[in-house]
Amino acid sequence: MAPSAFTSALCAGLQFAAAVSALQPSNHAVATRDSTVPAPLFAYEKKQLTIERIAALSPEDAALIDFDDDAVDSDVIIDKPKGFCKVFPGDDDWPSDDKWDKFDELVDGALIPTIPLAAPCYKNWGLYNPQQCAKIANQSVDPYLHEADPTSNMWPVFQGRTCVAIDRPDGTCSLGGFPAYAVNVSSVEQIQLTLNFARNNNLRLVIKNTGHCYLGKSLGAGSLSIWTHNLKNLEFIENYKSDSGYEGPAVKAAAGVTVREVYQFAEKNNAIVLGGICESVGFTGGYLAGGGHTPMSGYYGMAADNVEALEVVTADGHFVTASNTSHPDLYWALRGGGGSTFGVVTSVIVRAHPQVPIVTSTIKYATSANVSRELLWEGTRKYFELFIPFTDAHTYSYFWIWARGGVNGTLSFEMQPFFAPNHTIESFNELVKPWFDHLRALNIPFTAETKLHNTFYSAYHENWGNDTVGSSATVPGNRLFPRGNWEDPEKFNRTFDAIRRHSLVNARTVGGYHQAPRNRLNVDNAVSSAFRHVISFLIGASLIEGDVNATPEQVKKATDVLINDVIGPWKKVAPDSEFGGSYLNEANVVEPDWQSSFYGVQYPRLLELKKKWDPRSVFYATTAVGSEEWEVLDGEQGTQTQNGRLCRV
Ligand SMILES: Cc1cc2nc3c(=O)[nH]c(=O)nc-3n(C[C@H](O)[C@H](O)[C@H](O)COP(=O)(O)OP(=O)(O)OC[C@H]3O[C@@H](n4cnc5c(N)ncnc54)[C@H](O)[C@@H]3O)c2cc1C
Ligand SMILES: *[C@@H]1O[C@H](CO)[C@@H](O)[C@H](O)[C@H]1NC(C)=O
Ligand SMILES: *[C@@H]1O[C@H](CO)[C@@H](O)[C@H](O)[C@H]1NC(C)=O
Ligand SMILES: *[C@@H]1O[C@H](CO)[C@@H](O)[C@H](O)[C@H]1NC(C)=O
Ligand SMILES: *[C@@H]1O[C@H](CO)[C@@H](O)[C@H](O)[C@H]1NC(C)=O
Ligand SMILES: *[C@@H]1O[C@H](CO)[C@@H](O)[C@H](O)[C@H]1NC(C)=O
Ligand SMILES: *[C@@H]1O[C@H](CO)[C@@H](O)[C@H](O)[C@H]1NC(C)=O
Ligand SMILES: *[C@@H]1O[C@H](CO)[C@@H](O)[C@H](O)[C@H]1NC(C)=O
Ligand SMILES: *[C@@H]1O[C@H](CO)[C@@H](O)[C@H](O)[C@H]1NC(C)=O
Repeated sequence: MAPSAFTSALCAGLQFAAAVSALQPSNHAVATRDSTVPAPLFAYEKKQLTIERIAALSPEDAALIDFDDDAVDSDVIIDKPKGFCKVFPGDDDWPSDDKWDKFDELVDGALIPTIPLAAPCYKNWGLYNPQQCAKIANQSVDPYLHEADPTSNMWPVFQGRTCVAIDRPDGTCSLGGFPAYAVNVSSVEQIQLTLNFARNNNLRLVIKNTGHCYLGKSLGAGSLSIWTHNLKNLEFIENYKSDSGYEGPAVKAAAGVTVREVYQFAEKNNAIVLGGICESVGFTGGYLAGGGHTPMSGYYGMAADNVEALEVVTADGHFVTASNTSHPDLYWALRGGGGSTFGVVTSVIVRAHPQVPIVTSTIKYATSANVSRELLWEGTRKYFELFIPFTDAHTYSYFWIWARGGVNGTLSFEMQPFFAPNHTIESFNELVKPWFDHLRALNIPFTAETKLHNTFYSAYHENWGNDTVGSSATVPGNRLFPRGNWEDPEKFNRTFDAIRRHSLVNARTVGGYHQAPRNRLNVDNAVSSAFRHVISFLIGASLIEGDVNATPEQVKKATDVLINDVIGPWKKVAPDSEFGGSYLNEANVVEPDWQSSFYGVQYPRLLELKKKWDPRSVFYATTAVGSEEWEVLDGEQGTQTQNGRLCRV
């Protein structure tokens, strides 16, 4: 398989680094000395929808945006019959233009009818502009281009590829899986109004933060979208006293804050906050909701384990605090149970940690005249064998083994970086010595560029700082392998053979990590049980022939290959029943048995809480908890897209 299956699934861009715009300053950053739960609301959170405001409206207008005070917390699950659908543009009960105008007035003009980002590539929107189209096409791997757009998503395949950035003046650009409208929210009140308007009018509701989700969870045909991107506040609280017992520094971050912004803000305050490896990913949205794996996981577990409190608009339209003592079940679910399921998070309070020195190392070797493919894997076996000591030493790594040129082609191992917090160069060298000695003994020439950093952001940015995203050429999937597979020698052999085979025999590129977040902070939340056991997280992908012009059959073929040949053998050696799993935030959207693979043993409780907190299914996202009760009728696109009507199954 061509390595191009991965060219844009990469964040760090080992070889595809793209220059990204200059650092953005955080809009409203402040520091506070002391605070106890609940921490003071951000200014935009103080602007809330009041019953007085609703009471002042005409009964018809009030009905558009009133709260739903009967459903939440009732024990009744409001069952809709099979075939019941959310309303779709063109339907008789789609809100009239007058109603949309009224709604726009209520949200102070923040309603944006969707114009697809690539509309200038087509004549049918009356916006045709070939220079503009070329610019969009050129920047289509730049995440910030998509983040700045109210509805754009980074993965065209899940949108339905109905408006791709290719100069096609006589083609047709249609909305496809993009929402019909988005609301550019700048207050909790606007979020409440939007959510209530969607619920009261049976509209499909979506939430878009950055549009990173590569399962299409921030898309939805015919929907109304809450676009959180412009909520950028950050606050550093030097001494936070949480109702969970935590006392220490914390950061309060608004819904639109990205990993880059929170990392830079923490660094400025001489602290570490746990985020992912891609700077452009949203911090407060899908990342934390899905658990969030992080280079610091060897010390502090999953990013979601560090969340002390969240402010949330729930399905009934009310604004609540979720913490250890305020709606603890909601607090539990919001930390790991997935985005767009239990509420719209408007801000979070997370623990901040002291700076530690960090050693990083970039390690490379490849096949050559003297290094056969088999020999490369013999050397790599030692690396895999050491995952127990590596994770016991609190470290994390990110690597790719590129397969180029088919079954007789080249393999190259490229790790950037081995990430060793609170290590010295000496302790790092000691840790990796058995691996490096083994490579030397096998005469595999390798390079290791090792460096000590004084702060987290320096170590992070130098290695992962550049993001490129977006691809219609692949479908990705992943597997979480448990430590148990390393503890039992026979199981280890089967596991290793499956991974080696993927690369050596099937000539497929593999990416991945050694990492073990475990439950380092000893918290009880919805993070998948698979993450409590994981020791390695591997990523595979399948190439879509035909790329952006692929037929549904070609997409289906790639999806079948992904399920059966790429991830299947890994799933077989690391089944859900033995604490294997798949990370829901970076997964194959049509993963079989996604409930157990994505949510582990937490699924039954999550489903119960979904029915409690969202009995009317205001929130829907593909593969989200409870989503098996719905389907998007996209007409068989070869994978699940968001280009279709949402109906009960
Ligand atoms: C290049 C790349 C690198 C990545 N690296 C990492 C990594 O290192 N570690 C890691 O753990 N993950 C990583 N991810 C996965 C990432 O965590 C998910 O894609 C995540 O869903 C992105 O969240 P977002 O809010 O930025 O994106 P969006 O696509 O805007 O939203 C994702 C989901 O969250 C929901 N959502 C967004 N905001 C809110 C809100 N305020 N309230 C409720 N629901 C909300 C959306 O509705 C949607 O369901 C990476 C993804 C990409 C594409
Ligand atoms: C990121 O991009 C900058 C500018 O193009 C480059 O100097 C730097 O080496 C890149 N970093 C990584 C980790 O690729
Ligand atoms: C994108 O723009 C850059 C800089 O303007 C240019 O060098 C590059 O060739 C363009 N790439 C494409 C694919 O158009
Ligand atoms: C969204 O609202 C913000 C104010 O919160 C404004 O600065 C920005 O220009 C708006 N963006 C769009 C696309 O309307
Ligand atoms: C969390 O809240 C529960 C009550 O909901 C309480 O029993 C427990 O002590 C709290 N945890 C801490 C560490 O305070
Ligand atoms: C391969 O090995 C031979 C003999 O040991 C040596 O002379 C040669 O330099 C090596 N080639 C490479 C590319 O390392
Ligand atoms: C790979 O090499 C072997 C041995 O040289 C050869 O028999 C086989 O045909 C090659 N396969 C491909 C796909 O090139
Ligand atoms: C870092 O290591 C030192 C010495 O081993 C230890 O005392 C300290 O607690 C560690 N720091 C953290 C954050 O764990
Ligand atoms: C595992 O594989 C290694 C290397 O092939 C072999 O030496 C060892 O005996 C195997 N162990 C078990 C338990 O199968």
